Amino acid sequence: MNNIKHHSRLVAHNGLVVSAALSVKVLLTGAAGQLGQALIASTPPGVELVACSRAELDLADPAACRAAVQAHRPSWVLNAGAYTAVDKSESEPELAQAVNAGAPGAFAEALAETGGRLLQVSTDFVFNGLQGSPYRPEQGLDPLGVYGASKAAGEAAALQLPGSRVLRTSWVYGPVGHNFCCTMLRLHREREQLGVVADQVGCPTSTATLAAACWRAIGVGLEPDAEGSLPRILHWSDAGVASWYDFAVAIGELGVVAGLLERAALVLPLTTADYPTPAQRPSYSLLDCSSSRAALGLEPVHWRAALVEVLSSFELNASR
Ligand SMILES: NC(=O)c1ccc[n+]([C@@H]2O[C@H](COP(=O)([O-])OP(=O)(O)OC[C@H]3O[C@@H](n4cnc5c(N)ncnc54)[C@H](OP(=O)(O)O)[C@@H]3O)[C@@H](O)[C@H]2O)c1
Repeated sequence: MNNIKHHSRLVAHNGLVVSAALSVKVLLTGAAGQLGQALIASTPPGVELVACSRAELDLADPAACRAAVQAHRPSWVLNAGAYTAVDKSESEPELAQAVNAGAPGAFAEALAETGGRLLQVSTDFVFNGLQGSPYRPEQGLDPLGVYGASKAAGEAAALQLPGSRVLRTSWVYGPVGHNFCCTMLRLHREREQLGVVADQVGCPTSTATLAAACWRAIGVGLEPDAEGSLPRILHWSDAGVASWYDFAVAIGELGVVAGLLERAALVLPLTTADYPTPAQRPSYSLLDCSSSRAALGLEPVHWRAALVEVLSSFELNASR
């Protein structure tokens, strides 16, 4: 394990990250993931962060999850790690369940003994997408596939622990990691034209705005009264609505403006039927974030504005 400063954007993927300030101790999982990296880069003053990637903590091992809580005795576990391979989960349901449901269950069990709390990051895929209007936090769940079902089970396990919270989000992307934005930038560069699904609607969410919401969701930056009255289930996405097609077109247009692309490829709209995948995806997965945004005290950012910010940060990494 390496000890490195939490403010560094060059944080080693396998690093144990410990900040100097001491007031809220947070055990972060998924440190090498795209949200984990954004959380490390935005760690607020006053947070002592213990960041674990897969090498330090295997989320498929419940005994290791319990032991990490017992060893570090954090105020919060911020569980940003997850089995996120939506299609692959259809053929690896046991592993998806172990990581996405077993780990939060083990954290909740251990935190009940140590007196800590759990923030479980979850997904729009817990809904079936048939509603046609934004899903509210308190609505019932009906996941369509293995990934969504495992995340729904993770929510239930987390909520067993009094004081724990669930924060659902959608269509996460940022300047690092495997995500739609990075893939589309590459495809815009490589191809004359590309087909993208236009009949699935949701809202892209930048890892930067999501990380800010996560810190608020564990009370960092909130007055104690506001923290105490936060709902147990929160929704967070950037503002607005898009199809994957809209998002791909915007990445091309704004990628040119940001100087990341010489030209945008022609994007052709596809239907879900044109692009079959092992896992069924919700056709409509907008999250109603209005009450959560008010409770967290954060202003909504339109997804195009957030995309401009993300693309500007790509300049920091000339290899992309
Ligand atoms: N990505 C999205 O579009 C999206 C949408 C809605 C909600 N979410 C939720 O947002 C959260 C953050 O996702 P993300 O986008 O940051 O995903 P990500 O980039 O795929 O990161 C997930 C991290 O979890 C780690 N992980 C997977 N299996 C593990 C295991 N057995 N032990 C330890 N670590 C393990 C991965 O490690 P490796 O790097 O070693 O593989 C990876 O670093 C997750 O809860 C996800 O369900 C994501």
